[in-house]
Amino acid sequence: MFDELKEIRETALKELENVKNADELGELSTAVLGRGGKLTAILRTMGKLSAEERAELGKRANLVKQELAERFEERKAKLGELAEQLKIEREAIDVTMPGKRRAAPMGALNPLTLVYREIRDALVGLGFTTFEGPEVEYDEYNFTLLNLPPNHPARDMQDTFYINDKVLLRTHTSPCEARALKTLDLPFRLVIPGRCFRVDEPDASHSPVFMQMEGLVVDKNVSLADLKGTIDSFVKAVFGENVESRLRPSYFPFTEPSAEVDISCTICGGKGCSSCKGTGWMEIMGCGITNPHEIENCGHSSDEWRAFAWGVGVDRVACLKYGISDIRLIYEGDGRFLSQFK
Ligand code: DAH
Repeated sequence: MFDELKEIRETALKELENVKNADELGELSTAVLGRGGKLTAILRTMGKLSAEERAELGKRANLVKQELAERFEERKAKLGELAEQLKIEREAIDVTMPGKRRAAPMGALNPLTLVYREIRDALVGLGFTTFEGPEVEYDEYNFTLLNLPPNHPARDMQDTFYINDKVLLRTHTSPCEARALKTLDLPFRLVIPGRCFRVDEPDASHSPVFMQMEGLVVDKNVSLADLKGTIDSFVKAVFGENVESRLRPSYFPFTEPSAEVDISCTICGGKGCSSCKGTGWMEIMGCGITNPHEIENCGHSSDEWRAFAWGVGVDRVACLKYGISDIRLIYEGDGRFLSQFK
């Protein structure tokens, strides 16, 4: 029986070595120390022994019980530590891992929007407000009221998409001048953005759909100098303080005098290069003092009111500002192109 006790002790200690978790430990503990366990079983058979042997076996069995209970406790604590350790390892976050890509990549603003906002903000700072008109327009507003009566030769300057005799897709934002003059109280300063349409074969510098921005200032006493100063201020806001602008005589039926606006070449800074064909200047838009006929056509006295106006191709400005070599890119909506303007 003493041997048996020794055997129980040794087997239990060996099995304890192999215990891998709290459940297994619990099972082992019950099998050895529990009420139906091996140790209890041995003590139950002590009746057969002499009183001395019984006392001795009882003493030893208690020692074994105590020892095993302690070792089980130690093992339990150790297993607890291991479990904690494993949990920490499993939950660890590698902060150096690359992040997950967003499901939907962030979009970017079209360069037209960027340039439009820059010009608009510069003008709002000068007291301008925005105004808009329809893309499907009356011939009367697009041409006649602007001093281009039917059969006027200058109508051919703009190849027009007609819907019927009277209705067309506007070829410029200038019809909004007539709409503003007919509906708003004078004086006013307006900036008028919008999509325009012309029968044009698409190529690197032409698109049948394009964006213009009209400026119109009506007041009692405005001059070409006011026009020049206004244009200068937004040219500098868009292209930078050291870009100059100049007016060059031109012709538009709705202005008298009329001018083209050139800016100093954005590539060579005015020295002359292949982009500006050696002149140092690049044309960006038309402008002028509003023709008195237009003011009269829209129901106002041209003795009382003066106006100046311009119409700028926003796409042209965007191409110059960002070095875009093909205007079609602006309208194609290719994400690889647009994402460059973040
Ligand atoms: N509407 C003209 C065009 O599309 C541009 C323009 C020129 C607008 C002179 C104006 C202006 O308001 O005064 O070619």
